[in-house]
Amino acid sequence: MGQTPEQVIDSQRQDWNRVAGGWEKWDRFFDEQMAFLNHRLVADARLRVGLRVLDLGSGTGYPAILAAQTVGAAGSVMCIDLAKDMLAVAERKAKRLSLNNISLRAGDVTSLPFESNSFDAITSRFCLMFLPEIPKAAAEIARVLRPGSWVAAAVWSAPEKNPSIGLSMAAIKQVIELPPPDLTAPGIFRLAMPGELAGLFRQAGLVEVTDHEFIGEWSYSSAEEYYTSLMEIAAPVQNLMAKLTEAQKQDVKQRILDAASIYRRGERVTFPLAVRMVAARKPLG
Ligand SMILES: C[S@@+](CC[C@H](N)C(=O)[O-])C[C@H]1O[C@@H](n2cnc3c(N)ncnc32)[C@H](O)[C@@H]1O
Repeated sequence: MGQTPEQVIDSQRQDWNRVAGGWEKWDRFFDEQMAFLNHRLVADARLRVGLRVLDLGSGTGYPAILAAQTVGAAGSVMCIDLAKDMLAVAERKAKRLSLNNISLRAGDVTSLPFESNSFDAITSRFCLMFLPEIPKAAAEIARVLRPGSWVAAAVWSAPEKNPSIGLSMAAIKQVIELPPPDLTAPGIFRLAMPGELAGLFRQAGLVEVTDHEFIGEWSYSSAEEYYTSLMEIAAPVQNLMAKLTEAQKQDVKQRILDAASIYRRGERVTFPLAVRMVAARKPLG
């Protein structure tokens, strides 16, 4: 039997609190490699000076930090995330950057603790696919958005287009038997199908919905660096690795390193990535 929504939320909270230290360690790397996704979200949410923004599942501050820089002191960004240890990293970063227009709140995106029509824009990067009840979250997004304003969300596209994630799963599957993936269960690729999140936004009453696959690349200095970062930040991969014996872990590591080295280009290991960018607007009036 699958987990109840409460159990999913509890394990998400534990998972992401556990990897918060890894996210802080790799923060600069991910910021440098993935900034283009934040800029795309800021554009799709039509952010500009003075807007009040809500960022869902902010983790260590993406795209919230860029959103705060974009809306400036006259605007504000509210970050909500289950994992307070992830938010603590975002808070330290905001302080270092002297950003005083960011607030952080521990909570569940499925039931937003905010009044209706209270935000001028909503952003979210790599969070919505982890929710047990995505339609509820879509309804909440539609409720708290001000009429006429935009939500922009990024979720992972298909595993075969994201080998940096897919190849680790494939390597683990070669070593232990895993149940066939339940494509309707919360997880990294839950919203990978074209039209899935867009459809949920439409059902929630949002309009002018767009759904684009945004492709890019990210690169590591070596396959070893890739492996280390994966193990320190990817909570779902960590959960699978925890099922293995020491010998199986070594076997998986070697398989991951071998598979990653296929992507060596010049001095670096460069992976393609594909992200589904879904944007929508709350109808005016
Ligand atoms: C992969 S991280 C992404 C963090 C950040 N947005 C980024 O792109 O770097 C996923 C985040 O979603 C959060 N999350 C998962 N389920 C959530 C829920 N139901 N409500 C709020 N946050 C949630 C996790 O705690 C985690 O910080």
